[in-house]
Amino acid sequence: MPTRYLWTPLELGPVTTRNRIVFSAHLTNYARDGKPTEQHAAYYAARAAGGAGLIITEEHSTHPTDWPYEKLIHGFHRDVIPGYRRITDAVHRHRTPIFAQINHNGGQASSMYSRLPVWAPSAVADPLFREVPKAVDRAEIDEIIAGYALVAEHCAEGGFDGIELQCSHSSIVRGFLSPATNKRTDEYGGSVPDRARLLVQIVAAVRHVIGNRLALGVRLCGDELIEGGTTIDDAVEVAKIVEATGQVDYINTSIGVATASLFMIEASMHVPPGYAMFIPSAFRKAVELPVVGVGRFKDPLQAERALAEGHCDLVGVVRGQIADPEFAAKSRAGATDEIRLCLSCNQECVGRMGLNRWLGCIENPRTGREAEGTLGISPKPKSVMVVGAGPAGLQAAIAAARAGHRVNVYEKEPLAGGQVRLAASVPNRAEFGDMIRNQLTECKRLGVTITYGVGVWPGFVDEQRPDHVIVATGAEAARPWWVAGDAERVADVREVLAGTADPHGTVVVIDEIGFHHATSVAELLADRGCDVEIVTPGMVVGQDLGVTLDMENWWMRASAKGIVQSTDLVPMGFANGELTLLHHPTGANQTRHVDWLVLAVPANPVEWLYHDLRAAGVSVERVGDCVAPRRAHAAVVEGERAGAGVR
Ligand SMILES: Cc1cc2nc3c(=O)[nH]c(=O)nc-3n(C[C@H](O)[C@H](O)[C@H](O)COP(=O)(O)O)c2cc1C
Ligand code: SF4
Repeated sequence: MPTRYLWTPLELGPVTTRNRIVFSAHLTNYARDGKPTEQHAAYYAARAAGGAGLIITEEHSTHPTDWPYEKLIHGFHRDVIPGYRRITDAVHRHRTPIFAQINHNGGQASSMYSRLPVWAPSAVADPLFREVPKAVDRAEIDEIIAGYALVAEHCAEGGFDGIELQCSHSSIVRGFLSPATNKRTDEYGGSVPDRARLLVQIVAAVRHVIGNRLALGVRLCGDELIEGGTTIDDAVEVAKIVEATGQVDYINTSIGVATASLFMIEASMHVPPGYAMFIPSAFRKAVELPVVGVGRFKDPLQAERALAEGHCDLVGVVRGQIADPEFAAKSRAGATDEIRLCLSCNQECVGRMGLNRWLGCIENPRTGREAEGTLGISPKPKSVMVVGAGPAGLQAAIAAARAGHRVNVYEKEPLAGGQVRLAASVPNRAEFGDMIRNQLTECKRLGVTITYGVGVWPGFVDEQRPDHVIVATGAEAARPWWVAGDAERVADVREVLAGTADPHGTVVVIDEIGFHHATSVAELLADRGCDVEIVTPGMVVGQDLGVTLDMENWWMRASAKGIVQSTDLVPMGFANGELTLLHHPTGANQTRHVDWLVLAVPANPVEWLYHDLRAAGVSVERVGDCVAPRRAHAAVVEGERAGAGVR
């Protein structure tokens, strides 16, 4: 693929990037006690080694009033500097520049950790944190500015090549810029230049501290996507004000507000790639400064196009490089098809942030573990049989082959992928299938043999005589106790997706899993003309769609497709087309008469082969859903562990 623009160097003030691919800022939860860690250093270094043109770290807080989540880097303490040094030294070893993002989250925070009132331009509560902030006075504004300058000084001492001011989606500066949260009547409120006064003063203070040795960038939100918030016209005006300071070297971009419209900042696969391109595009027409475009750039071709069409000067690839640290190097080498494409599933990156866990990736077990050693090549190459070509089996095969073993995978179906293949067959979820595409590419590269249409039984294993067997036979649909044994017109979501059941007419989908299973199939059936109701014992249908930022889009699609969502209802019985439900908050019974009942309920592990082989004395272990049915990440992690552990 000709990529003319991606590999052109670019000057950002005193810094030259070797290419246009930016690992833009994102939280990692790798900090401990407010300080950066070795986990950070190894994580960023891996992306630098993998060819990123520029790395921008996660935010470093500029003031003690700013502590919205536990594992935030407290940049205002001098004791962060040794950790900064570790990070910058590790990244510089790969001749890659690294900037620090510095920030005060303002009213988009709570006082839970800091035990101090949160600060904001006006006493407008954030919709997520629901805490009324203190409207800052002049002395506090001076303190905020001094905080940014202090942290910039620490960053310079810690070896960073530049500073980025996060003024975009979760920031006190955004709070001042936005008419929705800035209700001030002094010189910091009112017109766009007045609302931008704090930003301009911070720019001056930071530039004063860093001089011309370091680059300075400003990240702006192009559209807050909230009622009465900043729109692209205001944002363009702010970009011009930033340029007019003459003290800034580039502008980074973002969309949405982290607490009100977060689902658009780190958009999942339901939002088309390049969805935020109108923002850098509008900025670029208005200013001369280099502009970074960000938002679901999945592959180098999309990035190249954005540059070639003049939408931006640099391309932020965040999740793309969380999933594959070698995104840039592989593209540069023309090995685009070997890139482990990000799925935009948000399950283990964004999703883990919301759960206060460290950042990982559903398909890359090494993400976040770069500082840990690997087992490497096994001293005794073995023949390894893997049974099942779902995500667990394929990952086990990859890891075993990487360790130097000869690996044969047997899959009873004509295709690889297991449940992932089914999950990806629903409209808008096709990108989930890239997980299997990525794993198959890796298997091919490593010389793994895959045989389809062969079900494995103990006699077959005896004939083949592998040194070790890894069983990854997955799980199968289960009928819950409350469905009568002779009930007709009942199907598991797997059967619907596989096409072995074809529900029609009035359909109730039971959601006892709380993820995409019920919602995906409900959409599919609604698209086929069914009248669909989803019933869940939970307080909300698809509860875990919240952490992956899929909830808002689901609600919009469900409403457009006329899907009814009923909550707090426990299924108690199903026979002869009648579904009995218990409304648990009140104890009242309800009934539904349906043509079909579709079940998204816990599955049963397929474990007989494992037990039979064990009983026969075969060297065997099992991974993934055949141990206990869970989500794909568990399958990948277990597959990796088992494959790498064959010695
Ligand atoms: C887990 C995660 C945390 C993020 N945290 C930040 C942050 O602290 N500061 C910031 O400016 N952007 C943050 N972002 C937004 C990213 O910089 C970027 O705009 C977004 O991920 C879209 O780019 P992508 O589609 O290439 O992932 C975060 C993104 C992710 C995935
Ligand atoms: S967890 Fe999903 S969205 Fe996040 S980086 Fe990995 S593949 Fe991409």
